[in-house]
Amino acid sequence: MTIARAATALLRLLPPETAHRCAIRALQTGLAPGSPADPPALATRVWGLTFSNPIGIAAGFDKDAEVFAPLLASGVGFAEVGTVTPRPQSGNPKPRIFRLPQDRAVINRLGFNNRGMAAAASRLSKRDRTQGVVGVNIGRNKDSDDALADYRACFETLAPLADYVTVNISSPNTPGLRDLQARAELEKLVASMHDARASLGLSLPVLVKIAPDLDDAAKADMAAVAVERNIDGLIISNTTIARPATLSSAAREEAGGLSGRPLFALSTALLTDMYRRTEGRVPLIGVGGIASAADAYAKIRAGASLVQLYTALVYQGLGLVDDIKTGLAGRLAADGYASVAEAVGADA
Ligand SMILES: Cc1cc2nc3c(=O)[nH]c(=O)nc-3n(C[C@H](O)[C@H](O)[C@H](O)COP(=O)(O)O)c2cc1C
Repeated sequence: MTIARAATALLRLLPPETAHRCAIRALQTGLAPGSPADPPALATRVWGLTFSNPIGIAAGFDKDAEVFAPLLASGVGFAEVGTVTPRPQSGNPKPRIFRLPQDRAVINRLGFNNRGMAAAASRLSKRDRTQGVVGVNIGRNKDSDDALADYRACFETLAPLADYVTVNISSPNTPGLRDLQARAELEKLVASMHDARASLGLSLPVLVKIAPDLDDAAKADMAAVAVERNIDGLIISNTTIARPATLSSAAREEAGGLSGRPLFALSTALLTDMYRRTEGRVPLIGVGGIASAADAYAKIRAGASLVQLYTALVYQGLGLVDDIKTGLAGRLAADGYASVAEAVGADA
């Protein structure tokens, strides 16, 4: 067992939120595993941004923009910080993260605990932009009565410091947040983000992160708005409020969003569906249950230009990213693809 794997196993003995804090501290103190240079076939360009590999850290791991630099240094292709809200907020009462070990899953109902946009901005402003791609995921405060104003404030403060912005309208733990996925609301929100971008003289991509629990009409609306209103990309998906019958761990009835292995099929089906509905014209980031190179490759073949993961890191540690990169390069070569881009949507 490598030191990194042993450390991951030890962290799993701690309550989930304590373990997460320890992992952040370890990254801050330079205890991240080093990483060999990426296989050239994994380099990819999306939205004019260069990614040395397509494997990113999903939102929620680095909520306060504390460790994006060590994450990039340890070999991830990009890091998404947040969700960040305008004002700091403490989130829901603890405990609010639950491991489902038998299911290789997690349920969380954190509720956007974060130190607010000013704190995130101060950290992001010190970053070395040549180190790699950093996205900023933005949301609204729980007690805000003007969601649009919250997204706008976050955008204006954080977009100048980001390589891309993700508008998170799909967390299940902020009451009313998912209602912003309805067509009229979404159109207003996207227009406001685009207006803010133009006013700031920026051109960075604005992505929307969606829930895996959309019904057919909502999926059709989402695809239509994405194409007609020039959403630059979709992140598919956030956690699910569904509870598959296969779950066997004690914590399976906890309220919150389910992530990890049981989310893989649901989120990949939505990815394929949105790739088809948008006819491959909107770059997609595939996330949900990736725990191996085979999983990452399946998301790419289903239509993802990039992928992200979080829950598998809880069970396998950051060393997993290197395993995925090696396995992915091998799979691309075996199928005769010279680049990630060539394989995008191969199964759709
Ligand atoms: C503990 C935890 C916290 C999360 N926090 C956020 C968040 O703040 N914003 C967000 O957009 N997604 C958040 N997510 C969702 C992840 O970004 C991702 O979409 C989801 O977990 C599916 O990927 P996975 O199965 O690889 O974990 C969180 C997930 C977990 C497990």
